[in-house]
Amino acid sequence: MGSEITLSKPDLGGREEELILEVVRSGRLSLGPMLERFELEFAEWLGVEDAIATSSGTTALHLGVRSVGWGRGDRVVLSPFTFVASANALLYEGVEPVFADVDPETLNLTPEGAAAVVDGTITGVLPIDIFGFPCDMEGFERLAGEAGLGLLEDGAQALGTIDRQGRKVGSRGTPTAFAFYANKQMTTGEGGMLIPRDREEGERIRSERNQGRSADMSSLDHSGLGFNYRMSDVAAAIGVAQVERLDELLAARERVATLYSALLEGDERLTLPVFGSGSEVRSWFVYVVRLTEEIDRDGVIERLAGLGIPSKAYLPCVHTFPQFAEFGYAEGDFPIAEAASRQALALPFHGSLDEAQVETVVARLKEALDA
Ligand SMILES: Cc1ncc(COP(=O)(O)O)c(C=O)c1O
Repeated sequence: MGSEITLSKPDLGGREEELILEVVRSGRLSLGPMLERFELEFAEWLGVEDAIATSSGTTALHLGVRSVGWGRGDRVVLSPFTFVASANALLYEGVEPVFADVDPETLNLTPEGAAAVVDGTITGVLPIDIFGFPCDMEGFERLAGEAGLGLLEDGAQALGTIDRQGRKVGSRGTPTAFAFYANKQMTTGEGGMLIPRDREEGERIRSERNQGRSADMSSLDHSGLGFNYRMSDVAAAIGVAQVERLDELLAARERVATLYSALLEGDERLTLPVFGSGSEVRSWFVYVVRLTEEIDRDGVIERLAGLGIPSKAYLPCVHTFPQFAEFGYAEGDFPIAEAASRQALALPFHGSLDEAQVETVVARLKEALDA
């Protein structure tokens, strides 16, 4: 049903089909030319030297954690208001996540917020551009330089985001992970990308992605521990088609976000997501409004569902999840992030929602809020 309003939807077309067919007909389904082409075209779009495609955003982050050199004994600061993969990637290497509260407007960790918990035991910072809003990487780079910390950026939600200095997320020289799950700005079904600091690091990561093997696969030599975190050429074919249309995909999402904001502006029950100021550009991954504390957010979700509109409590803080129990965090530790988690409501959002559909969602949301 073309007109159904869904929470998210990938934008796929004839070009994706054409390139998938090209891969199928070539018989080169893995480590083939399409994978290389995707990496090259993605790197070119981003304006970087190298990019390594992976099986998911999570595996890109995991390879990033290893490449930055974090392991057992390291303690890395990050926001608890994130998708759980950001913190899980640290646990995979025995790194302790050290959570710190976020800025109430952008919902990102700030360099000042991170600095407040930095002591002699902290060895790194993992900034996350939540909901596609740029975090202050310049500030994090300064903090990292001053305190001798490692830096890895989780840009999974921020492909196309531009920061205050006018730089695309991922292009500053800090290793950055992106994710291509089907609800993202661009998709490969499942997939991710890691941007290394330089080609040499890229080659090491490429080898680790492939069980520690050499780039030319000439022998079964394995230079060290590795993983199978490869992206298939079928997924890469979708990626190539999506990169070709990426500017268009991003613009379509921005159009929908602008429509939502124009229609919702002025409703005092809602805090709307901020657009960037100056050179900053939010890349629209989701459209999340925050309801005032008195409103029962979960009740609104239920009423919306009854009116045929899907919505989601997005996203929960991760610090109280069971895998982090040993670090002793509790509800109440991060009041700003926790309030955002209680009040946040993700509305249906993707680039092919038309004006009438956005109007319908807004009208139903007002009904659900009035009830
Ligand atoms: C902030 C963040 N980090 C990491 C990931 C992990 O990406 P994937 O689901 O592709 O493994 C996601 C996915 O949504 C994410 O939002």
